[in-house]
This record gives sequence, structure tokens and C-alpha cells, in this order.
Amino acid sequence: ALISLRQLLDHAAENGYGVPAFNVNNLEQMRAIMEAADAVDSPVIVQASAGARSYAGAPFLRHLILAAIEEWPHIPVVMHQDHGTSPAVCQRSIQLGFSSVMMDGSLKEDGKTPADYDYNVQVTQTAVAMAHACGVSVEGELGVLGSLETGEAGEEDGVGAEGKLTHDQLLTDPEEAAQFVKATNVDALAIACGTSHGAYKFSRPPTGDILAIDRIKEIHKRIPTTHLVMHGSSSVPQEWLKVINEFGGEIPETYGVPVEQIAEGIKHGVRKVNIDTDLRLASTGAVRRHLAQNPANFDPRKFLKASTDAMYDICKARFEVFGSAGQA
Ligand code: G3H
Ligand code: 13P
Ligand code: ZN
Repeated sequence: ALISLRQLLDHAAENGYGVPAFNVNNLEQMRAIMEAADAVDSPVIVQASAGARSYAGAPFLRHLILAAIEEWPHIPVVMHQDHGTSPAVCQRSIQLGFSSVMMDGSLKEDGKTPADYDYNVQVTQTAVAMAHACGVSVEGELGVLGSLETGEAGEEDGVGAEGKLTHDQLLTDPEEAAQFVKATNVDALAIACGTSHGAYKFSRPPTGDILAIDRIKEIHKRIPTTHLVMHGSSSVPQEWLKVINEFGGEIPETYGVPVEQIAEGIKHGVRKVNIDTDLRLASTGAVRRHLAQNPANFDPRKFLKASTDAMYDICKARFEVFGSAGQA
């Protein structure tokens, strides 16, 4: 069944668990997520980015998610729009039937220029007014995603700040977060704590100076009833990097967010955990390996099945560690 983000995260907060929010672009990702959720009885958040909409086309994405709801009617599904860059983008998703939208006012409409606080409040208020009138939830963002090591937003097509970011921009301020939530009435708040989008988050296994889980604790202490969202939460599995590089890929040494750190965040108010890169890595590794080991194969269903199976394993593992397994 289609449910709103607010409904799901209220349940998650009452029961002390977090929910992975996986990005979807194609059939294989959708099936991997749903088959894993069905296997462990987890509710699901699937999210579509602007890039996903231009890749698959909005109607196809929408029907992909609706098809999942039809095939697995017993699994609660949140249909979420990731990183909306303006109230107009959110409005279009509301019209399309999304049950939740992200108004990312941490950046201006170009998706690149860091925005000031007043701009962020204003666009978020506008999105909330529209969405709440339609029973749709809103995720806002305060703070700019980026690396505390380099001051850069990291690679990503579409969203991500351009230029150097300051330490202050990269860590959400707890007091400002309290003001922001009060002013906008968002249903969930994405915060910045040193994570960034994509595979290149950390040059070494992260420690507290570059992955500020303590900041999450401070924010949660200040706004204990607000559902927090962690973006850039892929763990960048070393075993998949190895497979990719073993079968012709070239990915340099890099580290993601360890799942234990995410679990620690979940103990302190994190309820939605955004993951895209991990499924991309698993899919790429599985396809590279399959084609290398089966050079005579030319049936895409065979290598796409390998991709689906690899993504399924990641989804299942995240549902289990974040505690959403058994909560559907
Ligand atoms: O927002 C971050 C997600 O990883 C989406 O990436 O814009 O390439 O679809 P994308
Ligand atoms: P990753 O790139 O770490 O998977 O983050 C995805 C994300 O935050 C989507 O909004
Ligand atoms: Zn994100």
C-alpha cells in the first residue's frame, strides 16, 4: 500500500528503527528492493531523483512504483521525490501521485549554489503548504552536504554544491535546525554531518573528525521529535570495489559510511537513510563479473538477473541492520 513518509517515520520513531531510502531508476532496482523487503517483511521508501526522471521518464518511474505496490500489496511503500530544487518541482511530483517530496532549499534552484537560511525557509514553507494540503509529506534540508576532508560536495550529476564549503556549512547547527523546523513544519529534516553523495566520500575509513555522528546526537537532543534524514549514506562495500576492479573496472581506493555508524545515528533520531551508490556498485560489479565469466552470453536477462541478485543482498542487509525488517 502507498503510505506517506510521515506515517512511516512516526512508526519508525515509536519503534526505534530506521528505514533505508533507495534510489530507483529501473526495473531491476525496483524488483531487488521489493523482493528483499518481502523476504524480511520491511516497509520501503523508494525515491526518484531528477536524473532518474530523465533516464526512465516520469510516467515509467511512477508506474514502476505503482506496479510494485500492486505486486506486493502487503508492503507499505513510500513514493518519494528526492532532492527537489524548487516548489514547482515538488508540485509536479505531487500531481504525479508521490506521497512524499524533498524540498532541498540548502541549494538554489540551479542545484549548485549554497542558499542562505531565509531563502531555504521560504521555499520550504511554500512546498509544505502545497504538499500538506494534499496529504503529502515534505523532507527539508539544512546544511550543505560535502566532505569535511576536502570541503567539496563530491561527484554527482545534478545536485551538489559547487566550490569550497566552510566547516560551518558542512555541519548542521542544532539551534538553527530547531528554528528551521519550527518555521517550516517539515515532516523530516535532512542534516549535514560530513557525508557526501557518490562513491568518493572519505579517503580513509572515517573517524569522528570527518564523519560527525556526534553532531547528529546534538541535533537530536535539541529537536527530539523531528525525524532526521542522512543523505550520502552508502557504505561503499570494499568487496564490491574488489569485484569491479578484478573484472576490468578502475575505481580508486575510497571509503563510505560504515553501517555501524548509521546504526548509531538511528539510536539518535535518524529515521531515513538515503542509499544509491551501494546499489550502483553492486550492480556494476555483478554485471562485469557475469559478462567476464560468461563470454558467450548475449541475453541481457542473464546479466541483469545477476545485477538484481547483487542489489537484493545489499537491500536485505540494510533492512536488517537498520531494524526495519519485521516492521511491515
Ligand atoms: O541525490 C543523489 C542520488 O544519488 C541521485 O543521483 O541524480 O545521479 O540520479 P542521480
Ligand atoms: P549515496 O550516494 O551515498 O548512495 O547517497 C544517496 C543520496 O543521498 C540520495 O539522495
Ligand atoms: Zn541526497
